[in-house]
Amino acid sequence: MKPLVLFLLLLALAPCVRAQKTDLIANTDGRKTTSLNGAWQTIVDPYESGYYNYRYQPSDSGYFKNAKPKSKTDLIEYDFDSSRPLKVPGDWNTQSDQLFFYEGTIWYKKSFPYQRKPNTRLFVYFGAANYFADVYLNGEKIGQHEGGFTPFNFEITKLVRDTGNFLVVKVDNKRRRDAVPTLMTDWWNYGGLTRDVKLVETPATFVNDYSIQLQKGSQDRIAGWVKLTGDKPTQRITIRIPEAGISKSFATDGHGFAKIDFSADLRLWSPENPKLYDVIVEAETDQVRDQIGFRSIETRGTDILLNGKPIFLRGVCIHEEAPIRGGRAYSREDARMLLSWAKELGANFVRLAHYPHNEFIVREADRMGIMVWSEIPVYWTILWENPATLENARNQLSEMITRDRNRAAIVIWSVANETPVGEPRLAFLKNLISHARSLDPTRLLSAAMERHYVNDTTQMIDDPLGEFLDVLGCNEYVGWYDGLPEKADRLEWKSKYEKPVVMSEFGGDALYGHHGDASTRWTEEYQESIYRHQIAMLKRIPFLRGTSPWILTDFRSPRRPLPKIQDYWNRKGLISSGGQKKKAFYVMQRWYRELQNNTPAIGEDEQVKEFAKQFVTRLMSTRDVRPLIPEFFLNDFTALSKHDFYQKVAPEVYAKLSRDERVRLFVAQENLGYMITLDVMMEPEIPGERAFLPFQRILPAGVARRLSQSHLVEGTAKFTNRAELLKELRDLEQSLVAARPILQRKNLEQSPTFLSKLKKFEHDPHVGYRVRSSVIDDDDKREFGLARLATGQKLFSIDTPLLIELIVVNDGGHFRILMLLPADSD
Ligand code: GCU
Repeated sequence: MKPLVLFLLLLALAPCVRAQKTDLIANTDGRKTTSLNGAWQTIVDPYESGYYNYRYQPSDSGYFKNAKPKSKTDLIEYDFDSSRPLKVPGDWNTQSDQLFFYEGTIWYKKSFPYQRKPNTRLFVYFGAANYFADVYLNGEKIGQHEGGFTPFNFEITKLVRDTGNFLVVKVDNKRRRDAVPTLMTDWWNYGGLTRDVKLVETPATFVNDYSIQLQKGSQDRIAGWVKLTGDKPTQRITIRIPEAGISKSFATDGHGFAKIDFSADLRLWSPENPKLYDVIVEAETDQVRDQIGFRSIETRGTDILLNGKPIFLRGVCIHEEAPIRGGRAYSREDARMLLSWAKELGANFVRLAHYPHNEFIVREADRMGIMVWSEIPVYWTILWENPATLENARNQLSEMITRDRNRAAIVIWSVANETPVGEPRLAFLKNLISHARSLDPTRLLSAAMERHYVNDTTQMIDDPLGEFLDVLGCNEYVGWYDGLPEKADRLEWKSKYEKPVVMSEFGGDALYGHHGDASTRWTEEYQESIYRHQIAMLKRIPFLRGTSPWILTDFRSPRRPLPKIQDYWNRKGLISSGGQKKKAFYVMQRWYRELQNNTPAIGEDEQVKEFAKQFVTRLMSTRDVRPLIPEFFLNDFTALSKHDFYQKVAPEVYAKLSRDERVRLFVAQENLGYMITLDVMMEPEIPGERAFLPFQRILPAGVARRLSQSHLVEGTAKFTNRAELLKELRDLEQSLVAARPILQRKNLEQSPTFLSKLKKFEHDPHVGYRVRSSVIDDDDKREFGLARLATGQKLFSIDTPLLIELIVVNDGGHFRILMLLPADSD
């Protein structure tokens, strides 16, 4: 190369040379960092006039100089410090209506002080910037990054000064044909510094990256490596896992690299037991701490094995959008809310679509025991034959794997979504697959593929890409884009491969609260029907080993303009953009419970609240409660434990009902031959009566009818003498003691004394009663100060107290009297 050209090149590169792009630093949480989050000054620059001159040549006096007029004659046509601030992390689209649809360049500027330290290196780390970022420090270019969903960092040790530092980032989210993703996506193109920005301090030679996971196929051998960066590459490094009594040392080579390999007897990470160990990577000049789980993940035939055991991935797809608040999600709280909803659905797996999500959600998945599918945005029709596009996709894959390779939760890397079958595409994706395997031999590789009909009723999975994958992801929309919901009943599925299939997308749109019959699109009933038919079909697919319906929550999409229904939201969420659960949510949850052996779903409260709200809405809208009950109880109620209905739904319901409506509902339920205790909305409680414990059971309709019919419908009578009532009840308590043997046989009717006592109340217009045949759960303990009783303790056993509840109705509504029948001490 001619010396002049070389010189010009060096000149152009000079600033970058002073600030070098180092390898991505792993686990910045485990290091000394300074957050640069908060308000950044910004300049919206649709014409990129802060970067190019009017000849559309890059200008060297662009906005990155953060110039200020030195005199009144000075011409500076921008000023960061009097420009609008935008919050970082955060997309710009949801921070101002003017920027909602904005695609282009916005300049960000952040000033910060920094005290330089000897033997200390400094890096600026970005969690993500969508899409293309040019980064400058103190007016000098320090680097650039392409790709909106993966982290990057630049070293600024030589450039940073003690005062007056200003970091300027030109962020451009313009879509390009050769980019990854390309021009067309079905998600909002949120622009900006969408994740945390921080300064990271390291020693001169530091632990740059490491891989510490179980060896492929092993459950008791750790294999991996450690990479040091700096001027002392050859060092002794030690891996410590104090809780497991492990301390293993290795030597790094001249490049600072050490392979590690040692046996380890560890408790394995799983959804049921998401065990994380404190792991310390120690070098002579540096030390990093991390929390790492250890589990093995592999396939055998059509099975997926977690820690050697077949597992079904009960999943749901998630876009990185903040629940309720909207806009790009970026925080631990956002992650927790999304993952808690997934858990509530009964999920042990989430597909983070269609790009790497922020580190918080992956680390929360580690903690909450949720397996993860993480994907790069090779989405729909990429420019397969463009080397720069391939390089870009490879780079995003590297950054995704580098950031998360030590997260036990991540079990699957996905290299693509719904890409068209064809040779250039296959070559492109095979390149990515082998790149991923070279970076991480421990995890499964997949992609969300399309399938095709071999005849009207047979779907075939035979995409040539399947040959190179471990798990076959398959997207299908039978019932939405493909026919009506019941079409699924006639379909059979075939696969060319003896490999596990995950149905990585299925579902349909519904606007929350939009109701109608099950064949009216956009209604909750239509979506519910899709899920009912889907689940029946999925259960028939012999090689199905996982499902992730599209999608957990409604999400913004510029491709969805239908007024009053979509309004630029993709409405395929099981949960609305307002956080409300749609009917289909409970259908999916029910199946996942079945798969989970009917163990109760976590976080029923929200479900209960939602339930009650729906209940009341429809109750109030129909004026006649009767027809509602069956539908509710028969359809949805099973989704709730009875206990929760009494404890949580009813209060919500009753709080909204007038007294008459309550009574009407009470009666209605009763006439349906079973009594629903609604005592939970009793108020006020008789002060000091906490000693009494609630107790509920379905009383024989006869008794109940007699009780409520007479007492409730006829309205109320003033309950004058409380003391007298208490005496009555103490008296009843005694009679119940006598009745124990019978009660224990759950046969109230035969207990003469009991009934005689009850009879006493029968004519009292104000008393109803319940007997609960159940176990004491935490709520009871908490609500009634019953710490001394073990949770789950079976009542009606000779050695446990018996609980009775009496309902006393008065003008103020109901209140409850609680009776505790002490354990049989004699
Ligand atoms: C596709 C695609 C999703 C999209 C969904 C839909 O299959 O993968 O990104 O949002 O279908 O149409 O709703």
